[in-house]
Amino acid sequence: MVATDDNKLQELKSYMDICKEKEYPDSQLIAILHKAQALYGYLKRETMDEIAVHMNIPTAHIWGVATFYHYFNLKPVGKHIISVCLGTACYVKGAGKILDAIKRHLNIEVGETTEDKIFTLQEARCLGACGIAPVIMIDEKIYGELNEAKTIELLKKYEKIQ
Ligand code: FES
Repeated sequence: MVATDDNKLQELKSYMDICKEKEYPDSQLIAILHKAQALYGYLKRETMDEIAVHMNIPTAHIWGVATFYHYFNLKPVGKHIISVCLGTACYVKGAGKILDAIKRHLNIEVGETTEDKIFTLQEARCLGACGIAPVIMIDEKIYGELNEAKTIELLKKYEKIQ
């Protein structure tokens, strides 16, 4: 069964009700935003308004949290999210060139989604895998010891399995 937006909202509200029962409901905001993103794919303005009303948290605070963490998406995203690590260890090993190669290959800038909605490109600061720098993450999977050619080969594999 495909979940409709009404079903999703109902599920989000049930989740928020559980969070409200916890000792510090305000500290549940990040978990609620994760839940909303898992349901809708990104954090819509209307969803954040729903959270604000339901949890009695100012919308401005929710926006602040949502924009602070790079893993929250404020726009619709593609099927796969590519995060290019630009932390120091990766940067000195050529992460900037890898990022440029991805931009050229996909014809998008950071923060954008390809027209076919397959990839969204993001930057990240240290993905916790400096030992295998330079690193990119596609969805939840980390790929290390990359160069421009290896990275493009990797993207082509993802393109093929669509
Ligand atoms: S700097 Fe890239 S994984 Fe740490």
